[in-house]
Amino acid sequence: MIVRALLVLLMAPVLAAGTIGVQAQQLLDWSPDEIRAIGQHGPWPPPTARDPSNRVSGTPAGIALGERLFDEPRLSGDGRMSCASCHQAGREWSDGLARARGTVELDRRTPSLWNIGYLHWFGWDGAGDSLWAQTIRPLLDPREMNGGPTRVAELLRGDAALACGYERAFGSKPGTDDERLLVDAAKALAAFQATLVSPRTPFDEFRDALVDGDGDRASRYPLAAQRGLRLFIGDANCNLCHLGPRFTSGEFGDIGIPFFVRPGEVDPGRLGGLQRLSVSPFNLLGKYNDDATGSSTRRVRHVKRQHSNFGEFRVPGLRQVGRAGPYMHNGSLATLEDVVRHYSEVSPDRLHSDGTPLVRPLGLAQQQSADLVAFLRSLDAEPPSRSVPASLCP
Ligand code: HEC
Ligand code: HEC
Repeated sequence: MIVRALLVLLMAPVLAAGTIGVQAQQLLDWSPDEIRAIGQHGPWPPPTARDPSNRVSGTPAGIALGERLFDEPRLSGDGRMSCASCHQAGREWSDGLARARGTVELDRRTPSLWNIGYLHWFGWDGAGDSLWAQTIRPLLDPREMNGGPTRVAELLRGDAALACGYERAFGSKPGTDDERLLVDAAKALAAFQATLVSPRTPFDEFRDALVDGDGDRASRYPLAAQRGLRLFIGDANCNLCHLGPRFTSGEFGDIGIPFFVRPGEVDPGRLGGLQRLSVSPFNLLGKYNDDATGSSTRRVRHVKRQHSNFGEFRVPGLRQVGRAGPYMHNGSLATLEDVVRHYSEVSPDRLHSDGTPLVRPLGLAQQQSADLVAFLRSLDAEPPSRSVPASLCP
């Protein structure tokens, strides 16, 4: 299968450093097309994303208020659950569970929030068209935080530190319109979440070295990961959907994960998400969009529901993926090995018949599966520890 796996032995860096002994390092023979394809998965980190629909996006005071609110259990109906209950910093901003646990067990897994600021559709089904609108959902949902506009508004008005943080972020004291305060709280929360950018990884070191033509540096990347990467951008076609620096198109796909939630009940994925988006008072076409130019609404205005959206879920980004299982919208695959086996053996009957199928059973050999997993693991790195948030109003 890997016909161009010609090995180049590089010993120069070790000798040049004057080290005793010779350590052979290896680099596959990468073609210009492959180097171009790999280059598209970087550079990392990308420039900071600003959201024109959110007037506190990227502002230090908005981010500080959002960080405080993220850990605030008083936003929930029973005063016990915060965003951080499910999106835990020590678990890649997820919870390690197959299905999220709110006031009841949900049907979907808690997604990681790494690199969330670079997306344009939110939730597994894309029911949110902005990060702040997506943030409102768990606050209101009785199965999640079960809060509500009045609870949020009273907290912002009644807690001196939060009221002061609000005034710094938004330029006026919290007013009397509860729904507007709910939206503002969500906008501050969104400003904070957009700062969650995953760390540089061994893959990024390799990608930059390859693009710079620095074979010595590139050859430090393990050979198994190199072979897995070659499959990822080549025969296995993973980068049809997992593309760009975040390893996602940000759009939706069907890879044949079963969509039955329980006998007789299905999760319609994107089809249901578009339905919910169109009736949401918080979508970008509504009155809470801060973008006066209207450019942010283009995507929403042009999206149309199609039958093929049934059973589609948003393509997840793959950075930190090895540290954030279990996998898929319903947590149905426990390990990366299981994910690769799924792509190797997926049944074509389960996939959509309309359009060109982008996924087909790959029939991978054992070595190839192990190589793909080694590559996916090279997208992981230990995140730096979080600094203690500054007080809102010193
Ligand atoms: C009970 C657990 C739970 C709590 C509490 C919770 N979330 Fe989530 N979060 C989820 C689940 C499950 C999803 C996936 C929802 C879906 O796709 O239907 C999700 C999705 C998201 C997404 C979209 C991620 C993506 O990849 O598109 C964002 C953003 C988010 N949550 C932020 C928050 C914020 C902010 C809070 C607090 C206000 C919060 N969440 C509270 C479980 C939770
Ligand atoms: C047709 C587009 C498409 C292609 C091609 C594709 N994927 Fe995916 N991938 C998805 C979607 C969509 C999901 C989420 C599906 C779900 O949750 O039901 C996903 C999920 C994953 C996950 C789980 C991530 C998580 O956080 O749950 C991994 C890992 C993954 N893909 C790796 C790969 C690899 C490796 C390949 C190539 C063998 C590949 N993908 C090819 C669309 C694609």
